Formats: sequence, C-alpha cells, structure tokens
Amino acid sequence: MARYAHIIGWGKAIPRRVMTNDDWAKLVDTSDEWIRSRTGVRERHFVSEGESTLTLALEAARNALEVARLSPAYLDLIIVATVTPEYQFPATACLLQDRLGASRAAAFDLSAGCSGFIYGVSLAGDAIRAGSYQYALVIGVETLSRIMDWQDRTTCVLFGDGAGAVVLAASSVPGGIISYTLGADGSGADYLIMPGGGSRHPTTHETVEQRMHYIKMNGREVFKFATRAMDRATRLVCERANVPLEHVELMVPHQANDRIIQAAAKSLGLPDSLFYVNLDRYGNTSAASIPIALCEVLEKGLVRRHDHVVLVGFGAGLTWGALLLQWETPFPAVTLKWWQRLYNAIYYRWAQLRSWLARLRRRVESWQTRENGNGSPPRKGPSAPHREEKGAPSDHPEAREGRSKQVEEPSPPAGERAAPSGETVARPRDADHPEH
Ligand code: ACO
Repeated sequence: MARYAHIIGWGKAIPRRVMTNDDWAKLVDTSDEWIRSRTGVRERHFVSEGESTLTLALEAARNALEVARLSPAYLDLIIVATVTPEYQFPATACLLQDRLGASRAAAFDLSAGCSGFIYGVSLAGDAIRAGSYQYALVIGVETLSRIMDWQDRTTCVLFGDGAGAVVLAASSVPGGIISYTLGADGSGADYLIMPGGGSRHPTTHETVEQRMHYIKMNGREVFKFATRAMDRATRLVCERANVPLEHVELMVPHQANDRIIQAAAKSLGLPDSLFYVNLDRYGNTSAASIPIALCEVLEKGLVRRHDHVVLVGFGAGLTWGALLLQWETPFPAVTLKWWQRLYNAIYYRWAQLRSWLARLRRRVESWQTRENGNGSPPRKGPSAPHREEKGAPSDHPEAREGRSKQVEEPSPPAGERAAPSGETVARPRDADHPEH
C-alpha cells in the first residue's frame, strides 16, 4: 500500500521580549523609516537570560505534539534545523530528545541556513514514505540575537528569535508532501557566514577582537540570489507534482524581506495576497521563519482541506528549497481536556526524572570503572567476575567488541531483531536503544 507523509501537528515558540525599530535607533545609526521601507520589519522578539535555542525548541515541540495528540514516546525521528545550536556539539536535537522523553527517536541537527526547515521536512517525509519511520518531529529554531553583531546596523536590525515545529506521520491517505526540491551553491558561501569558531578559525583572542563570531552578510548579493531561488524552486515543485502554479492556494515564503517576497510574487505572476507575511512582527528568524508562518496560517484557518500550499526558502550555504503540500489533515476540533494536559505534564516530569536517573547511573558506572583501574582492563580479582555474573556491562572496549560480535552473528529476519541471547524477538518500543 502506498504511504504518504502528512503534517499532523504544529506549534511555535516566540520569546516575550520585544525589540522595536525605535529601540534599535537608540543603539545604532538607523531609523524606523529605513528599516520598514527597506525590509518591512517593525519589531522582532529576542530571548532573555535563561532562554536559549533548546528552551524555544522544547516549547514549540510540545505545542506541536499537543496538536498532533501524540506522545513523544512514539516519535521515531527528531530533526532540528538551526544555525544557532545550543552547543557546537552535541546536537540540540539530542538534548531535545532527552527533555521530551522521546526515548526511541533518532535525533540530529541540520545546518542549511534559512532553508533548514524545508530540508528537514523533505528528508523526514522521505523516510516516512519509504516505511522507515512512522512519526517524525521537525523543528526550525534560532536565537540569532546571540550571534549577530549588535553594532553592525547592516545586519542587526534584520533578525529575530523564535521556533516552529511540525509533527509528520505516515498515512495511506493520498496527499501531504507531494513534491519537494532542495539545492545548494557553496560558491556563494561567503555572502552569509559566521567565520569564527569553526576549524578554519578556531576561537582565539584575535577572532573575538575581529568580531568573527558574528553574522557577516553581503545583503545585496543575497537579495539577488533570493528572488531567483524563490522563483525557480516554486516552479520546480509545482512541475514535479503536475500542479499548475495557479492551483496553489497559499504561499508560505521565508520571511527575510518584504521586497524579496514581492519580487518573487511578481516574477511568478502570482498576486501578493497569496503570500503569507509576518516578518513585520518577527523579523528574519532564519530556519524558524517558515514553520512559524505555517503555524500561524493553520491557527488562523487560512488553509482548508485539499488546498495546495507551497513552502519556499533560501539561505546561508547558499541553499534553497521548496515543498508542495496537499493539505488533507483534519483540524483538531477541541483543545486538550484537563486530564490530557495533566497526563502530558506528568509525562514530561517523568522524562526529566528518567534523564536524571540515567545521568546518575552513568556516574555510578564511571565510578565503578575507576575502581577497576581507570579504564584499564578489568582486574582479574574477585570483583570482575562478580560484575559479569550480575550481568552489568563492562566498559572495556574489548568487552564491548565481544558483546557486539555475539549480537551480530545471527542475522535477524526483516522487521525483527535478534536478542543478545540469540532468541528472535518482535521489535519492542525502544528496540533501537542500546540500553533497553
Ligand atoms: N539603517 C540605516 N541605513 C542603513 C542600514 C540601517 N540599518 N543598513 C544599511 N544602511 C545604509 C547602507 O550603509 C547604505 O548606505 P550607503 O549607500 O551610504 O553606503 C544604504 O543604507 C543602502 O544599503 P544597501 O545594502 O544597498 O541596502 P539594501 O536596499 O540592499 O537593503 C538589506 C539591505 C535589507 C540587507 C537587503 O539587501 C536584504 O534584505 N538582503 C537580503 C538579506 C537576507 O535575506 N538575508 C538572509 C539571511 S538569513 C540566514 O540564512 C542566517
């Protein structure tokens, strides 16, 4: 039976702190008039102390799961698209997986600039359609206020912080993601770049003094590229799905600049009114801009069943992408009941407790390993056999190798896994987790 990938949940997170154009005019040589006429932005939201990429992603993810009426325990895959991760590594997606209690989900970050969300949804959709996964969570999230140069008026007035998330699910109902296109041209990498902090320019006093840890952008070149990319990508997804441009009911473009959106509308021959615009309130939130806009159009009821919706974006890389959705998801009629909210609250508490216990167990294990000689082979004294008897895993690489060989030897039939003992078992909920 054919499988399709549908969006069944959506959510966003917008930080409370608002920064208006007039606020910027007090900090750099700019004006409300310049910013509004050149970009369309009136205000943007920035994270405050204590907030970060992870806290925004978590809020958006929980909201999307709530709309989808899905427990995080069912998620198979989490993709976080961002250029402002919580840390260089580990991936923000893994931190989110832990905080959500999505114990069976694979998780990774994706860096494709403002096109990141389109990249993420396209890949998750393919994995679902191929039958690899049933449920996926894709998030676009940014805290650009943490990497922009607050003294550079040519960039700082453009950006904002926020997050948007969607839950994708497999279904036999035709529709959902019906086509997509992704592209990249690294020859334009210098147009939009944060040069410091990577392996090319590791962080030093000099890189910090030269302000290399901030966004550098050639606005004019990005502008030219953006209008071309939006036009080409939109036409391509429609051609691929055999949907004429005029059958598109709604365009959800990346929210970088009102003039870019208007230029794209003109070159596509579509009315401006077809394009959803919210950049006046949020500025450019990079990977978060399309999912935040999508979330708003769904909340406002601007999408009806069977509508064709195009998501289209461009960004650092340079990258671009577009995605054509045929909307078939019924909208949830009522908000969650009190006991469903209570269940969710308990679940997230439990996830925190579980994470804490896992950390504690790791500490105890590392303490036991140190007792055994700080990473050296387990001592041949009475303590080593005692540990093995109890079935506790040895942390020595050789022991691990031995275990994995044992597991790998019998090749399990498709859809089933061989238990370490050799017997064949049906795939349990957390089968992909090595510690379950
Ligand atoms: N306030 C007042 N004057 C300004 C400001 C400001 N904030 N910024 C620039 N200016 C001045 C410039 O110094 C310049 O002055 P000059 O002529 O004396 O040299 C003048 O305004 C015009 O500057 P331009 O750069 O030509 O202005 P332009 O009309 O191209 O608008 C802008 C600049 C808004 C950045 C535009 O080029 C743009 O939107 N580009 C696309 C940006 C984009 O989409 N980026 C995506 C990044 S997201 C990601 O992937 C992280």
